[in-house]
Amino acid sequence: MSIYLDNGATSYPKPPEVVAAVTDALTNYPGSLGRSHSKTMSQLEHRLYDIRMAIANLFKMNNADHVVFTRNVTESLNLVIQGFLEPGDEVVISSLEHNAVVRPLEALKHLGVQTIIIPNDHHGQIDMEQLEKVLKTLPKLMVINHVSNVTGDIQNLEAVAELAAQYEVPLVVDAAQSAGILPVDMLALSLSAVAFTGHKTLMGPQGIGGLVLSKPFAKRLRPLVYGGTGSLSEYFEQPTLMPDKFESGTQNLPGILGLGAGIDFLRRITPEVILEHERKLISLLQAGVSNLSHIRIIGNPDSHKRLGVLSLDFSQDDNSRIAHALSKNYEIATRVGLHCAPLAHKSYGTFSSGTVRFSTSYFNTEEDILNTIKAINEIIKD
Ligand SMILES: Cc1ncc(COP(=O)(O)O)c(C=O)c1O
Repeated sequence: MSIYLDNGATSYPKPPEVVAAVTDALTNYPGSLGRSHSKTMSQLEHRLYDIRMAIANLFKMNNADHVVFTRNVTESLNLVIQGFLEPGDEVVISSLEHNAVVRPLEALKHLGVQTIIIPNDHHGQIDMEQLEKVLKTLPKLMVINHVSNVTGDIQNLEAVAELAAQYEVPLVVDAAQSAGILPVDMLALSLSAVAFTGHKTLMGPQGIGGLVLSKPFAKRLRPLVYGGTGSLSEYFEQPTLMPDKFESGTQNLPGILGLGAGIDFLRRITPEVILEHERKLISLLQAGVSNLSHIRIIGNPDSHKRLGVLSLDFSQDDNSRIAHALSKNYEIATRVGLHCAPLAHKSYGTFSSGTVRFSTSYFNTEEDILNTIKAINEIIKD
């Protein structure tokens, strides 16, 4: 018996159609996207357009050429941060950001880029009063995590976006944990960009992610990587046409086709059904452990205010011991520690011991959860 409850890190298993699409890419498409001329490669251009459009539609956009592929959300956020900020700029973030945001900003500190961190409460909600005070000073950019990867807490993105729009501060959303599962309307929220990764909620393979950009923001953004795009090759300068401006080098075709199949799966089952299933299982887990002593639930205790995540602090034990015992003795995969988000753990008061994070997917069953509850009970008695 092996139970996978680490879907917040990467979703597993992948739907069979994702595996088939990756195999198809490696088997049936010789050549390089946008470079090679053959019948198969031009058929592929149509599929590629459909995948870009499907991604745009996830965020209520209809501009396929403003969907840019990257390796993952980390690269997407680096593209935005390094491609937009200049010496002396100020940027606002929440205290729940992942190192994918914190580290690129830290690396720009020596250029005089200043980061202002707005605190969140213990339910993952940003302090709106403090945020407004800072937005009034007109920082150059705001980056915000939609859903905490530590707890699954859902940020009130609508309220944050309304405030950012009021002060005309460009807002970029890290949708690593929420893409495709929670509705995000980029136009209605006036978002400048949404950064996503393919291998979590979107059910695709590792190594593919991207950005959906608003037109004005794409114009103001510098590329992170320069090079061959298969277009306008006679010029030394990087093309400004989209998405080529940001897509230099040979693209990850197996990743893109796998991601396309993942999004097809998501649309077929529907985000509502997936979310309901994941939440039902996480509520069952929560109910099964909440009467145990010395276990703290981190984040909002109302599972309807979170995605399918339960983050536990075994306060009188060692969180690592619990996770290792789950893995070694019961083959239950979780994630323990700081989840690449030390800032968020500081915000929740769980730095530096971290938490044990359980995260469900559509493929988990009630039996998985009942076995996990039993395992936790046995481990804490040891
Ligand atoms: C909120 C958040 N941002 C960024 C990342 C980085 O994702 P990736 O490793 O796919 O770039 C993660 C992954 O754990 C995340 O949860």
